[in-house]
Amino acid sequence: MTQTTQLTMALSKGRIFEETLPLLEQAGIVVTEHPEQSRKLILPTSRDDLRILIVRASDVPTYVQYGAADFGIAGKDVLYEYGKEHPGGLYQPIDLNIARCRLAVAVRDGFDYEAAVRQGARLRVATKYVNVAREHFARKGVYVDIIKLYGSMELAPLVGLADAIVDVVSTGGTLRANGLVPVEDVMPVSSRLIVNQAALKTRAAVLQPILDAFERATPTQE
Ligand code: ADP
Ligand code: PRP
Ligand code: MG
Repeated sequence: MTQTTQLTMALSKGRIFEETLPLLEQAGIVVTEHPEQSRKLILPTSRDDLRILIVRASDVPTYVQYGAADFGIAGKDVLYEYGKEHPGGLYQPIDLNIARCRLAVAVRDGFDYEAAVRQGARLRVATKYVNVAREHFARKGVYVDIIKLYGSMELAPLVGLADAIVDVVSTGGTLRANGLVPVEDVMPVSSRLIVNQAALKTRAAVLQPILDAFERATPTQE
């Protein structure tokens, strides 16, 4: 019995899925069901040797590192945070330049962040990026108490849970709508292709052409 080598890709639904569709299409791959319409977590594609797993954005590195997916796409925010606890497990060959945003420190409009830093105040910082935040403030020599949240970070300074947040900023609309202002950039963010190290060796014949097609389809840097 012959068995085709099945390739598995991990993606999160929402913006990464939407922005990946054109890249897949340029690689000649069409996803035949949409995650917003289907409750299925394993989606077929026009290639019967390729399937897509729909997982939480922050779980994509886990699926790829353990080999449950051969490759996937994740934001640098997620990869940096994950990499602090799981060093060395992921091959990250291509910056796809999609889902672009930045990680930034933000505070309530009117809170004098620079003065607080200058005076050596101990800041309470709410974030889901605890490792990124800890490293950022350690590098600046600022004492922080990190409060781990899983979403709606912009709320924390408004209700006295934190002095500052570290979160994703794109247009700045969410900060503005909640009376917050960005005070410091932490890192620029875009999404990268990530590949399981073993799959790269054992499945190179099927995997490498897809990686090459992604590289050719990547939008160029502005
Ligand atoms: P989740 O909110 O569950 O983390 P998202 O689809 O919102 O999932 O985010 C996935 C990735 O997209 C993030 O890890 C980040 O790299 C990027 N991202 C998040 N928010 C934005 C945004 N507003 N604009 C552009 N990219 C974003
Ligand atoms: C993300 C992020 C910020 C917002 C920033 O939220 O968590 O809140 O985008 O983008 P902006 O600067 O353009 O306003 P998302 O839209 O992913 O909603 P979520 O809370 O469901 O993650
Ligand atoms: Mg989001």
